[in-house]
Amino acid sequence: MNAPDSGSDAPWDSWRSHDAVQQPDYPDSSAVREVAAKLRRQPPLVFAGEVDDLREWLGAAGRGEAFVLTGGDCAETFAESTADHLRLKIQTLLQMAVVLTYGASMPVVKIGRIAGQYAKPRSKDTETRGGVTLPSYRGDAVNSFEFTAEARTPDPHRLLDTYHHAAATLNLIRAFTKGGYADLRLVHHWNRGFTANPAYARYESLAEEIHRAVKFMEAAGADFDSLREVDLYSSHEALLLEYESAMTRIDSRTGRAYDTSGHFLWVGERTRDLDGAHVELLRRIRNPIGVKLGPTTTPEQMLGLVKRLNPDGQEGRLTFITRMGADRIRDCLPALLEAAKADGRPVTWMTDPMHGNTITSSSGYKTRRFETIMDEVKGFFEAHDDAGTVPGGIHVELTGDDVTEIVGGSEELDEASLASRYETLVDPRLNHQQSLELAFQVAEHLKRSGE
Ligand code: TRP
Ligand code: MN
Repeated sequence: MNAPDSGSDAPWDSWRSHDAVQQPDYPDSSAVREVAAKLRRQPPLVFAGEVDDLREWLGAAGRGEAFVLTGGDCAETFAESTADHLRLKIQTLLQMAVVLTYGASMPVVKIGRIAGQYAKPRSKDTETRGGVTLPSYRGDAVNSFEFTAEARTPDPHRLLDTYHHAAATLNLIRAFTKGGYADLRLVHHWNRGFTANPAYARYESLAEEIHRAVKFMEAAGADFDSLREVDLYSSHEALLLEYESAMTRIDSRTGRAYDTSGHFLWVGERTRDLDGAHVELLRRIRNPIGVKLGPTTTPEQMLGLVKRLNPDGQEGRLTFITRMGADRIRDCLPALLEAAKADGRPVTWMTDPMHGNTITSSSGYKTRRFETIMDEVKGFFEAHDDAGTVPGGIHVELTGDDVTEIVGGSEELDEASLASRYETLVDPRLNHQQSLELAFQVAEHLKRSGE
């Protein structure tokens, strides 16, 4: 890998002549250039070979030979990138993955919204409180949440902090997932703790089946390296163009450009404009990429994205992550699936059942209902069933902590409980229990449809 001295002559810098929305308004542009130059000299965070492996896996998910689990915070924060928080999040993902692997009888591709998910698009550039107007919080990669002029002014040095937090997080992930901690039998043991809770009695029979399968494997002496290790890939929204382009490197083996800030990168519903800078940057990199599609997406827009981002129809290259809302997915998704089918170029389809289902509680909290989230997942499976296409995976916002941000679930978290541990700075996340419950329900569905 080597990097050019200045980004401006790199082919992936073509985004600079396109319209770039949702970028911070930095007061000092020479400081931005200095930071970008420093970033270009840093070692890559992820490696081309890993990125290629993930692309292959996503291709398999597109064909129905694997199932993808993507999960993590809406917005990671520097303050919460501690060993404890990260461990609980990784544990939660692994626990979900065990259940899904059993349910799907397929490999589960594990991707975290982790080690880079520090930047957020916002609907308004400013926020007003008590007559004072300041720039909106755009994630720790840009500014600080605290409501003061100093904290809210975008600071490019935070891009270097972002790099270092991502590096430390990836280091921990590699240690956890390769150091015995991700052992299937250990993770299964944690799940036993979850299903012992009477609130989750309805999952007992599935849990018992998994238990017997693990016992059988042990009795038969099955013991191989792949039981002890997992590949956990990193992903985030490719929002901050200066950061993403400064982290892009030419791979010495293939001569191709890889964005080495994360394995999988996506653009959001707000930044997916065909002629915009974000799509232009993603077009130039080799990573597997995703695009979030909301309920107003037309088949023409979707096909435009296929043409622009995956002209050669490479498997695993392009994932559409639909976020339609539970009440709209059954109406909006079928036309997209039919159009993609007619086009013929492969697409991997995932559901994000979170972002189309955000509501405000009577007590004023931004929340989501567990049952509504599950309904969108169900609508996603139904639409694929009808169209004869492949539901490739799920993409959810979660944390390993016992927060109270989403109402519902078997523990019947109600609106009054939201106040007790509402910690997110942006969107509400499934807590540890709710995440496992979602995994059990999706696994039950996958199991039924595989029988
Ligand atoms: N390596 C396999 C996999 O990733 C099996 C495995 C080991 C596993 N530890 C795990 C699966 C933890 C899920 C969770 O699928
Ligand atoms: Mn979010």
